[in-house]
Amino acid sequence: MKLKLAILGSGSGSNMQSIVDAIEAHTLDAEIVCVLTDVPDAKILERAARHHLPGRYVSCAPFRTKLDGAAQEETIRLMREAGADTVVLAGFMRIVKPALLAAFPNRVLNIHPALLPAFPGLCSWKQALDYGCRVAGCTVHFVDAGTDSGPIIVQKAVPIEPNDTPETLHARIQVQEHIAYPEALRLLSEGRLHIQGRRVIIR
Ligand code: GAR
Repeated sequence: MKLKLAILGSGSGSNMQSIVDAIEAHTLDAEIVCVLTDVPDAKILERAARHHLPGRYVSCAPFRTKLDGAAQEETIRLMREAGADTVVLAGFMRIVKPALLAAFPNRVLNIHPALLPAFPGLCSWKQALDYGCRVAGCTVHFVDAGTDSGPIIVQKAVPIEPNDTPETLHARIQVQEHIAYPEALRLLSEGRLHIQGRRVIIR
């Protein structure tokens, strides 16, 4: 089924770019129907404009770390109006609340720069490096009411090299993110993802 994606991002939008590239290469059956950001000058809006995708800033004040209240209602309204059936959190640095999850049940996905459940939260690649891990990575998962805690769809491992800095490690994790997100969305579009409790069964 052709997915109608609403993308929510706060930053550069490289994950959105990987999804745009997969759609344009006809390896993902999807359409991006809106791009929303909580950061007025986020680069993701420039990328959206470059690909003629409708992009928009939604002020999330007074909240700093969550999408709640009127801003969440407005976000839901804009996504519905655009005809979205799937919400893609692509570097969206806010916690979404139950109203949004209820509006798109089992259709909100997130990408996180760690092998969950290790290192939820911020700057996870740095957390993995500081911890002394040998392997880091990324996770695409369904979003639930917790923080970075929903059922896991795809994970990619990235070995940590002796000379890695947070920047070099994050750059290599991002290379894998750009493979993982289109892969997870492809599985969703093919109707192959089945949530059973905590587990996602791929058929
Ligand atoms: C990505 O590394 C993504 O995993 C991370 O933000 C970056 C966004 O990059 N997300 C989180 O940390 C969410 N907790 P992008 O704007 O270039 O896609």
